[in-house]
Amino acid sequence: MAFENLLLKKEGNVAILSINRPKALNALNTSVLEELNQAINTIEKDEEIYVVVITGEGKAFVAGADITEMKDKTPEEAREFANLGLEVFRKIELMEKPVIAAVNGFALGGGCELAMSCDIRVAGEKAKFGQPEVGLGITPGFAGTQRLARLVGAAKANELIFTGDMISAAEAEKIGLVNKVVSQEELMEKAMDLANKIASKGQLAVRYSKKAINRGIETDIETGMALERELFALCFATEDQKEGMTAFVEKRKPNFKNK
Ligand code: CAA
Repeated sequence: MAFENLLLKKEGNVAILSINRPKALNALNTSVLEELNQAINTIEKDEEIYVVVITGEGKAFVAGADITEMKDKTPEEAREFANLGLEVFRKIELMEKPVIAAVNGFALGGGCELAMSCDIRVAGEKAKFGQPEVGLGITPGFAGTQRLARLVGAAKANELIFTGDMISAAEAEKIGLVNKVVSQEELMEKAMDLANKIASKGQLAVRYSKKAINRGIETDIETGMALERELFALCFATEDQKEGMTAFVEKRKPNFKNK
């Protein structure tokens, strides 16, 4: 599928989705968000794709929502725009397949929010994170107030959002905003290593685990444990469980079919 603002390719069982609007530092306008929505639908349906890596072309991951497009919006138009971003990012978060953000540069505002909607964040050492919206007279709009506070705690989220400060990849790792920092040159290789390692496991088990973590974190622990129990039981209705455990007993590598 051809996009104006995205590049989508497959390497084995991994999809690499790259935001490709480098002249505007990959800023998210309506058209980029709509294409992202389509790309996610395509990826979710493609049975050959097990894991997704999202990155940005050029020196930015994504430098935010498009300020030029937002500048003259009415409150109603702004609500509609926020809704689009919120829905697309929620779709990424809730899609069955795991998503890794390979953060190659600026991840600001909507860019930090996009990275936070992914399951795992790997950052290049030159990446920069921040929610600079208050400097533009607005709040974060694609769930930055919600996901940042959940990821790093309210105190750090308050500091970052109230000051609009940009932080380094090293600082982002220290506060738990990114999983790991790697050299700029090795970013895609390391993100792909991680993606391929996940792709080598039983995918139904990976997807059920994602669901249990995502849904469980939003609910009380009893409800979360009940969900985990049901998904655990469901695994025993799969061929992958038989294969995974038989392979262990037979001291060989499992050959998962994702069934
Ligand atoms: N929207 C629209 N255009 C943007 C953009 C954005 N968020 N960020 C960068 N650009 C454009 C610049 O206007 C510039 O375009 P021109 O060449 O046509 O002038 C081009 O990208 C390159 O940017 P700079 O020349 O500014 O590059 P730099 O290296 O000097 O600075 C930067 C990089 C610090 C990231 C700076 O571009 C910047 O501060 N960008 C805006 C960051 C920001 O405020 N993001 C939050 C947006 S609001 C939001 O995201 C709301 C939400 O939650 C939904």
